[in-house]
Amino acid sequence: MLKKRLFTPGPTSVPEEVLLEMASPVMHHRTDEFIKIAGEVFEDLKYVFQTKNDVFIIASSGTGAMEASVVNFLSEGDRVIVISGGKFGERFKDIALAYKLDVIPVELEWGKKMSTDRIKDLLEKNSSVKAVFGTLCETSTGTHFDIKCLGEIVSHYENTLFVVDTISSLGAIPCLTDEWKIDVVVTGSQKAFMLPPGLSFISVSEKAWKKAETSNLPKYYFNLKKYKKTLAKNDFPFTIPVSLVVGLRKSLNIIKTTGIEKIWEEHHLRGEATRQAMVAAGLKLLSESPSDAVTAVVLPEGIDGEKLVKVLRTKYGMSIAGGQDHLKGKIIRISHLGWQDEFDVLTAITGVGVGLKEMGCEIDIEKGLSVARQILFPSQ
Ligand SMILES: Cc1ncc(COP(=O)(O)O)c(C=O)c1O
Repeated sequence: MLKKRLFTPGPTSVPEEVLLEMASPVMHHRTDEFIKIAGEVFEDLKYVFQTKNDVFIIASSGTGAMEASVVNFLSEGDRVIVISGGKFGERFKDIALAYKLDVIPVELEWGKKMSTDRIKDLLEKNSSVKAVFGTLCETSTGTHFDIKCLGEIVSHYENTLFVVDTISSLGAIPCLTDEWKIDVVVTGSQKAFMLPPGLSFISVSEKAWKKAETSNLPKYYFNLKKYKKTLAKNDFPFTIPVSLVVGLRKSLNIIKTTGIEKIWEEHHLRGEATRQAMVAAGLKLLSESPSDAVTAVVLPEGIDGEKLVKVLRTKYGMSIAGGQDHLKGKIIRISHLGWQDEFDVLTAITGVGVGLKEMGCEIDIEKGLSVARQILFPSQ
């Protein structure tokens, strides 16, 4: 029997204590018992988001919250800037176009850094921009974007909202929603939150609520005004997946007890160890600004990344992710998200070495492992 190991950047492993919690009998969502749980969850989400703003829970994958961030605060024809340096930035652009927004696309080469001056210039030249959309970690390339700096820039524009996709990064790397002046933050349950897929979360600033008053884009299920009304009673407008919320209470409890700063440090250590190990083993990183959430590694010429992913999954039970779109077959992506420890990092590195060897490609995995071990266990 294969032991399954999940190193994909979502879904990620779920701790046993969260799984057990979700296995408890399903309760009705309009009961005092559930409303009490929801109340705790709404409060604890603010801690992970580092915000005083309300955080809403939607029964959808992360893309649902992305769509909510477009339809609730904008109106047809509104001009918006969408920064995209990969698959998920492109998704924001597609959603904005689907709702007939006037998109100024800022397209970056995949894996490259963003120049915040470019956004500053664009805002200076386009005073009518109603929102800037960015991504904290572009999961398709493992790239970290300087959201803090962008938040400062956008905050000078009274009429412009700053919307950030943190689906693969909130709860893994710093995202200081209020301090960084982010109006709308969207994320999902299946990554750093250590839960199965199925819930998305969205925080909304006062500045964004003002825009909501005049927004005329069509919306029903994702109409956050409905969610705001029910939030006052720790309730939801529609039937929420109660078992996921019960699991969320547990995972938020783990996050709170561990401390968010410690969790960020742990992700940093795992990311750093993986990156340095890959380079020491003779491989190249894709991103010039790597994120601690996920590492994208360029494969040697002639190695089929899709096959490597398949070999690891079918023969060894280890799931890593491959590349998307033009990077399909060319890179692999190893997640550091959520419920992982130092030994998981060593296992993932070993897996890459074993898989590549099986495909006839020898890398210096011993050297990589030794470098990673020194980073993970510095006192030994
Ligand atoms: C940065 C980012 N944005 C958006 C998404 C889409 O989220 P979902 O698949 O939960 O709809 C993902 C999923 O991997 C992501 O990593």
